[in-house]
Amino acid sequence: MEFLTQKYAQSLPERTWHALKKKINPPKPPARPEEGTILNHVIAIDGPAASGKSTVSRELAKRLGFAHVGTGTLYRALTWKLLDEKVDFSKPALVAERLKTMKIECGIEADTLVMRLDHIDPLPHVRDGEINEYVSAVAAIPAVRQSLLEKQRELLNHGPLVVEGRDIGTVVFPHTPFKFFIDADPEVRAARRAKDGEKDSVASRDAQDAARKAAPMMKAKDAIRIDTSTLSIDEVVETVLGFLEGKGLFENADAHAVKEAK
Ligand code: DC
Repeated sequence: MEFLTQKYAQSLPERTWHALKKKINPPKPPARPEEGTILNHVIAIDGPAASGKSTVSRELAKRLGFAHVGTGTLYRALTWKLLDEKVDFSKPALVAERLKTMKIECGIEADTLVMRLDHIDPLPHVRDGEINEYVSAVAAIPAVRQSLLEKQRELLNHGPLVVEGRDIGTVVFPHTPFKFFIDADPEVRAARRAKDGEKDSVASRDAQDAARKAAPMMKAKDAIRIDTSTLSIDEVVETVLGFLEGKGLFENADAHAVKEAK
């Protein structure tokens, strides 16, 4: 059985969900869209660290032809920037002050997230060793979450998305009918992260992410929980696709498109 590690995701063979994919019609824009209205599908995938949600989300996006957005990258990028500038993020007011002048740009290129912070690409730095240690503290600051909320919603203007994170089904895209909470036993998750060769205390990050006041990590009431502890990537992806089919994603593309952004 293949485990759900980040590295394995890169080596996945190209497979398509032939029968279903044929049935997907890209959602049509409304005849006269209201200004700023967006209308697209979003599949929300939340869950704790190293639960397999990134691997599964990437593979799912590939099979559906949707773009993939790992929102953890946004919080990691801001953490890198604040650390780089030596902003004391134990003082939320200082962070909020700095964010007032920071130019945060997010977009989609080649079906994946791109970002600039004050014109600099932070993505090469987001897996730096120290980021895992501090990112949960930064993500708990309300001004940080506020500065990223609309940016995430605006990404839906680029086309249909698979979006993974901690608050996607609860806060960022609460109106999507396609919500999953991907979980796994704590020991399995710690072992997966160790296999990736990354220093990351997943249990402590999860505890902080679940305990914070602002948009805590939690399963949306209407999300489907999938425990990946003993499942292969393919099994999880096929399970998700099965639920998506059951929820009508492939039959009536327009009916479930989401309007979230202003
Ligand atoms: O998915 P990840 O491990 O790259 O996420 C890094 C951190 O970012 C995670 O510990 C908490 C934060 N995060 C968040 O608060 N909300 C999200 N939607 C995604 C990530």
